[in-house]
Amino acid sequence: MHLVDTMHDVDARHLTKGLQASFDHVGMRYPTGTQALDDVSLTVAKGECVALVGPSGCGKSTLLRLAAGLEAPTSGSVALGTTSVGFVFQEPNLLPWSSVRRNVGLLARLAKVPKAEREGRVAAALDAVGLTAFADQLPRALSGGMRMRVSLARSLVLRPEMMLLDEPFGALDELTRQEMQGELLRLYESRRFTVLFVTHSVAEAVLLARRVVVMSPRPGRIAATIDIDLPYPRRPEVRFSPRYVEHVAAVSDVLQGVR
Ligand SMILES: Nc1ncnc2c1ncn2[C@@H]1O[C@H](COP(=O)(O)OP(=O)(O)OP(=O)(O)O)[C@@H](O)[C@H]1O
Ligand SMILES: [Mg+2]
Repeated sequence: MHLVDTMHDVDARHLTKGLQASFDHVGMRYPTGTQALDDVSLTVAKGECVALVGPSGCGKSTLLRLAAGLEAPTSGSVALGTTSVGFVFQEPNLLPWSSVRRNVGLLARLAKVPKAEREGRVAAALDAVGLTAFADQLPRALSGGMRMRVSLARSLVLRPEMMLLDEPFGALDELTRQEMQGELLRLYESRRFTVLFVTHSVAEAVLLARRVVVMSPRPGRIAATIDIDLPYPRRPEVRFSPRYVEHVAAVSDVLQGVR
């Protein structure tokens, strides 16, 4: 197991082939004066799955919003090698008056995916997140965890090249969470999209990611990047392997150290 310094010197204005996202000396200071991020440099390769962990308020959600272009950094630069991005926000943000099915199809409708194609994709996404039986219900008839799954399905329908996931499984019970992790692994391995995801669970980060990036408390900086050398395809049973446990211990150690 080795800790790798993550200060890559990538020129974000000229994304190299094979790179999906690049943060180059990124700083983010909100108009309120809060310095959320300071000198963050990070690159994500095409098809890579990277997990971000760190204390609450260290700028993880900010980093994802910058990646999606929803905000602009106040210093440094961010570059993305694709316009096909799916974003699962920390809050599910569903339309309360629309059925689960319509909510799941929303982004595809806005992206003008033809109706027949869209309906097929919506059905597949609902199936993937286990919500087929609730397709005609309104969001208020769902639990918090089910609403998050709707949000995940809504992004999957776009078949994005890159998925930005902000604590997508935070509101789920342990068993459902494990099911969803297994589902995300299978999707990731079959669709080969790039994933940048935020989680508070070290176990989840190690299970899913090829690299775990640990951030320091605000202003968020990258404290360490840990390579997870567990081969894909990964099955959830990898949790019981000694190597997995070693990785979890290593990430936890680093996280303890930054607090
Ligand atoms: N729109 C905003 N305006 C002003 N300050 C903001 C805004 N969004 C976030 N912040 C501040 O930036 C810092 C980082 O916030 P961010 O939401 O990125 O943290 P986080 O790491 O995602 O935390 P959590 O784990 O609790 O979700 C916080 O101090 C927060 O108060
Ligand atoms: Mg957040």
